[in-house]
Amino acid sequence: MTESVIRVVGLGKSYETAAGLFPALKGVNLDIQPGEFVAIMGPSGSGKSTFMNLLGCLDTPTMGDFFLAGKNVAHMDKDALAILRNRTLGFVFQGFNLLPRMTLQDNVALPLVYAGVDKEMRRARARELLGKVGLGQYAESLPSRISGGQQQRVAIARALVNAPRLILADEPTGNLDSHTSEEIMRLFGELNAEGITIVLVTHEQEIAAHAKRQVKFLDGEIVSDLATDSLPFMAQRAGIPLGKGRAGDGMGAIGADAETHPLAEATKQPTKPPGNGGQVSAYPSLPLVPGDAAPAGHKEGGVPC
Ligand SMILES: Nc1ncnc2c1ncn2[C@@H]1O[C@H](COP(=O)(O)OP(=O)(O)OP(=O)(O)O)[C@@H](O)[C@H]1O
Ligand SMILES: [Mg+2]
Repeated sequence: MTESVIRVVGLGKSYETAAGLFPALKGVNLDIQPGEFVAIMGPSGSGKSTFMNLLGCLDTPTMGDFFLAGKNVAHMDKDALAILRNRTLGFVFQGFNLLPRMTLQDNVALPLVYAGVDKEMRRARARELLGKVGLGQYAESLPSRISGGQQQRVAIARALVNAPRLILADEPTGNLDSHTSEEIMRLFGELNAEGITIVLVTHEQEIAAHAKRQVKFLDGEIVSDLATDSLPFMAQRAGIPLGKGRAGDGMGAIGADAETHPLAEATKQPTKPPGNGGQVSAYPSLPLVPGDAAPAGHKEGGVPC
């Protein structure tokens, strides 16, 4: 069996609050294989971001184990964890998180600065990735000059700069209109087709339908875990042939009750990863996001590329 990209066992997170410990995540088990495309769903406050922040090593669990690419992160020191995470995953945020006074090229290249990659290589890599997301001609522009959808493409390019095998995205289309959201989801689909594992939070069934697997949270627990193409009534409603693992639109009302629908239960089946292995980074250890371990003296807008 292939090594899981993500394996969590009894993973929990409790926050300290004025009213005492609040269990936002209550002992979750989940296994994600290389090449999967997983949508994390659930109502507001159900623990999705808490879970994603743990997967992205942006926060630490209060119980359980988390194996990232086979390594138990609980037993790693800070430096080893930074190396593992930066070689393994890229994170995309709802708010894009681009640095406003840096060109798009410099934003994309920023993680490479921390790794000591030389200027020419950084520039070439950033331009390559901006081209990949269809924004090569804007390399010298500032984020304010482009649309929200384009900014999210830049953020995806930045997440890809270290050739990660895993992309984590927390509501990446949350600030975008439906047409732009579809474009961003198509981009995620293309990256997944190249073998990158994608785990993405969304509130919207239409967005989740792009994924091959849908995991739903409620009150800090996983309450359903289904292959998208095991929900034939969703695909039929969207007029998409069964077995494609993707449905386009018009599923809001039905999709909301998908896991309680008797047909969903009747057709429930284990999800199957495509089996195309993850990629291994060709780049050295890199910080994940701007603000992570900025090199001494670094100032926003001041990174030469
Ligand atoms: N730092 C924190 N301190 C205390 N409670 C927190 C903290 N972060 C999150 N919570 C609580 O944990 C629960 C889960 O929050 P989380 O942000 O993971 O939900 P979510 O599913 O991502 O919601 P949304 O869809 O609104 O983004 C919520 O009740 C939230 O108020
Ligand atoms: Mg959230």
